Amino acid sequence: MATVIVDHQPYQMNPQQNLLHGCLSQGLRLPYFCWHPALGSVGACRQCAVKLFKDEKDQQGRIVMSCMTPAAEGTRISIDDPEAVAFRAGIIEGLMLNHPHDCPVCDEGGECHLQDMTVMAGHDYRRYDFDKRTFRNQDLGPLVNHEMNRCIQCYRCVRYYRDYAGGRDLNAFASRNTVFFGRNQDGVLENEFSGNLVEICPTGVFTDKTLKHHYTRKWDQQFAPSVCVHCALGCNTDAGERYGTLRRVVNRYNHQVNGYFLCDRGRFGYEFVNSERRIHHPLLDGQPISAAVAQHQLAESRAAGKVIGIGSPRASLEANFALRAFVGADRFYTGMADAEAKLAAAMVGILRRGLTRTPSLHEIEESDAVFILGEDLTSVAPRMALALRQAVRQQPLEKAKALGVPLWMDHGVRDALQEDQGPVYIAAPYATRLDEIATATFRAAPDDLARLGFAVAHALDSDAPASGDFPLASEIAHALKTAKRPLVISGMSCGSQALMEAAANVAMAAGAALSFIAPECNSVGAAMMGGCPLTTAFQAVRDGRADTVIILENDLYRRAPAAQVDAFLDAAAHVIVLDHLSTPTTAKAGLVLPAGTFAESDGTLISSEGRAQRFFQVFVPDNDVSPAWRWLKQNSWTSLDDLLAALSRAIPDLAPATYAAPSASFRIAGARIPRSPHRESGRTAVLVNIDISEPKPPDDPDSPLSFSMEGTPDKPPAALIPFFWSPGWNSIQATNNYLEEPGGPVRGGDAGVRMFEPSAVRGPSYFTAVPAAFEPRDGEFLLLPMYHFVGSEELSLAARSLAQLATRPHVAVNPADLAANSELEVRCNGVTFHLPVVNRPDLPRGVAAVSAATAGLALPAWASLVRPQ
Ligand code: SF4
Ligand code: SF4
Ligand code: FES
Repeated sequence: MATVIVDHQPYQMNPQQNLLHGCLSQGLRLPYFCWHPALGSVGACRQCAVKLFKDEKDQQGRIVMSCMTPAAEGTRISIDDPEAVAFRAGIIEGLMLNHPHDCPVCDEGGECHLQDMTVMAGHDYRRYDFDKRTFRNQDLGPLVNHEMNRCIQCYRCVRYYRDYAGGRDLNAFASRNTVFFGRNQDGVLENEFSGNLVEICPTGVFTDKTLKHHYTRKWDQQFAPSVCVHCALGCNTDAGERYGTLRRVVNRYNHQVNGYFLCDRGRFGYEFVNSERRIHHPLLDGQPISAAVAQHQLAESRAAGKVIGIGSPRASLEANFALRAFVGADRFYTGMADAEAKLAAAMVGILRRGLTRTPSLHEIEESDAVFILGEDLTSVAPRMALALRQAVRQQPLEKAKALGVPLWMDHGVRDALQEDQGPVYIAAPYATRLDEIATATFRAAPDDLARLGFAVAHALDSDAPASGDFPLASEIAHALKTAKRPLVISGMSCGSQALMEAAANVAMAAGAALSFIAPECNSVGAAMMGGCPLTTAFQAVRDGRADTVIILENDLYRRAPAAQVDAFLDAAAHVIVLDHLSTPTTAKAGLVLPAGTFAESDGTLISSEGRAQRFFQVFVPDNDVSPAWRWLKQNSWTSLDDLLAALSRAIPDLAPATYAAPSASFRIAGARIPRSPHRESGRTAVLVNIDISEPKPPDDPDSPLSFSMEGTPDKPPAALIPFFWSPGWNSIQATNNYLEEPGGPVRGGDAGVRMFEPSAVRGPSYFTAVPAAFEPRDGEFLLLPMYHFVGSEELSLAARSLAQLATRPHVAVNPADLAANSELEVRCNGVTFHLPVVNRPDLPRGVAAVSAATAGLALPAWASLVRPQ
C-alpha cells in the first residue's frame, strides 16, 4: 500500500490504482462522472479535479484529474483546496448548462448520480439564462428509455456498450458543439446487456422503460435481496415492489458473480411476476376456493391417495424439499425429463469429484485462454458471455503491463492493445453471438464436438484417450497449456454427456478451471437433491402405484411430449399443481395452489458455479399466494429456518447450502434490516381511504429483514443487502460504499456458499467413453435444441416487454441439405409438428435444430423434415 496525503491526513491506498479510486475506497467525498470501476479512467468529465502538490513545501500546487493520477507513494493532494473546489463547481455548472432541470419528472430523480454529484460539487444556483440545446429522443425498444437532453457527455454509455459489452449499434455522434449518444436511427438496442445503460449512465438519459409503465420512486419501493431465476448463473439482484406489484430489478453487486452487470433477461424478466397468467387464488376444478379449503383438500389427498411428488429445477431447494418431505423421499421425482436428469446427475457427479475448480464469473473474467465446448453462452448463460468479453483482454493486458501502462488508464490500455485479443476457441453446433471474439470456431454435431474435446485432452496429455485427427486440437491444447488461467466451458445444452466428459478431460489435462452450464436456475440443486426422473413417475401412475400427483412449479409439457403428459395426467385420479403462472399443466389440475414467485417467497438456489444463494421475499401479497414450501410444510416447521434444519439433517450434502444467508434471528445491534429506504413516504396515506391509522407492517418469521423502513442504518452482510444507499449517495453508485474498494469484494465477504471445491486427491482420472464419429443419415436429420436469448427460457416469455423480443420458434436447417423457405413438418419420436424454417448454412450437414423446449422433445433425436404438401 502507498501512503497518500489528502488534505494533510495520511491514507493507505493501493498504488496500482488511481487517486479517485483510492479516495473513494477511503470514503472521501470526491465527485466524478466518467470513471467507473469496471471501465477505468478516461479523464473526460473533469469533475474529479483535486490539487496536487509536489511536496510539503509546495503551497501552489496544480489542478489534476484524480482519476488520471496514480495513487503513488508520497502523493500529496487536496480535495478541499478552494481552487479545486471552485474548479469542480465550475465544471458541474458547465455540464448543467443544457440540462433540462427536469428532476421532478425524471425517472432517475431521487436516485441520480448527477443530482448527488451536483450537491457534492456545490452547484446550487443556475446563472445561465439562454436557450438550451435540445435533442430528439429515440425509441430504443421496449426495455430502455432515451431522453438525450439530460446528457452530460461523460461517454460512459458508449464505453460500456461498445468497449465492455461488444455492442455495435450505440455510438457518439458529434456535430460542432453537439454530441448525441444513441443509435443511427430508432430501433431496439441489439446488445443483450443494454439494460446496464440504466445504471451506467449517471443521469436520466437511459432509464428502465419497464419501470416507466408503473413508475414509483426508489424511496417508495420495498426491496429485498434476490437471485435471478432466468438462467443458472445466479446473478444477484435487488427487486423492488410497491402496492403489490413488482416494479423493477436492479443489480446487486457480488464481486464473485455478476459484479456491476446483469443481462437484459435478468433485469427485465421480472415482469412475469405481474403477468396476467398469475394464479392468485386456489382453484378446485377451475373454481376459486379459500386457502383454508385448499389446504384441507391437499391434506385429504395425501391421506386418501397413493401420492407422488414431482419437483422442479426452477423451484428453490426449500420448495423441492418441502414436497419431498410431504410425499416421502421414495415418492419424490426430480421433475426433469429422463435425459435431462441423467445429464444433470452426470454433471453434478463430475463437479462433486472435485477434478478441478468450478470458477466464479469473476474468475472467468480473469481467464486468459478459453475453450468452449457445445454452448451458445449468450443465449443460455448470458452473463458468462459478458465475462468472456473481458477474458479475451487478459493476455493483451500483460503487454500493457509490460509497457508500464496502468491498467485503469482505459484509453492508454486500448491504444496499446488495439484489436489484440487472447485465445478463445468455440466449438458449437451452430454459429453463436460470441463467435466474433473467437480465435477459431469449429462446428459439428455433438459427438464430433466431444471427439474434438477428447483430442485436445489427448494432445495435452497422452494418457488421456485419443479420438481422432483434429488439426485444431493441437492449437487449442497449446493455447490452454501456455495460459496462466486456462478455462474450459461446457454444459448440458447439447444433451451430450460425452461432451461434458470430454470437457472434464481437457480441464484435467490442462490444469484448467471447468465451468458447466446448467439449463435452469436450480438445476444443480435439484440434481443434488436427487429423485427419479419423469418417466418413472409416469410409470408409477400407469402401474397403479400412484393415483395422486403433486406437481411443483413445473410445466410438464415443456419436458415431455404432450401425448405422454396427457396420458399421465389423465390416468391420475388427482392432479395437484403448485405454480405461480397458469400453464398447460395447471389447466389439467383438479387442485391448483398459487405459489409465490421469487418475489413472494424465500428460498435457496444453487448456481452452475455450485454457489448456494438465498433470495428473500420482497412483499407479502394481499391474496392467497404463498411460498410453495408453506403450502407443503410439515407441522413441526414454523419458519424457513426449521425447514432448513430438517433439510440439513435429511440431505447432509446440501447442509452447506442452508448457510447461504444469515438465519432469521440475525440482528445488527438488535435491529432488523429494513426492506424500504428511510425516506419511504406515504405509507400511512396509501390506505387513508380505509383507515387513517398507521398499518402494522407484516411480521417476517423467515428472514432478518423487516417489511418497513424501520431497522438498522448499518450496512448488512452481502446476502442481506436490499438496496444500496449511503448518505449523499442515492444512486446505484452507492454500491461502492459497501465494498472493500470499488470493484472489490463486498465488505464482510460476497454472498453465497460454494458447494464444490477441488478435491485434494491429485492426478487426473480420465473419462474414456469416446463417442463414434457422427454419421449423417439418409432422409433423416439429427435434431438438436437451438437456444434464443428470449424465447427459450420459460419465465421470460411471460414478461411482457421482454417477450416482445422473443425469437419465434422455428426449425433451422442447412440449405445445402434441404432447400425450404416457408414451413417444414417435423416428425420426431412419434411427435409431428409444423414450424417455420430458417436457413442456417452454419449448421453441420445432416443436422437440424429446433427452438429448445419445442413440443417437449428430448433432444438430440433423429427426425425427418418434410415439406408440407
Ligand atoms: S448518455 Fe449518459 S452515459 Fe452517455 S454520455 Fe450522456 S450522461 Fe454519459
Ligand atoms: S446471466 Fe442469467 S442469472 Fe445473470 S441476469 Fe442474466 S439470466 Fe439472470
Ligand atoms: S471522473 Fe475523472 S475526469 Fe471524469
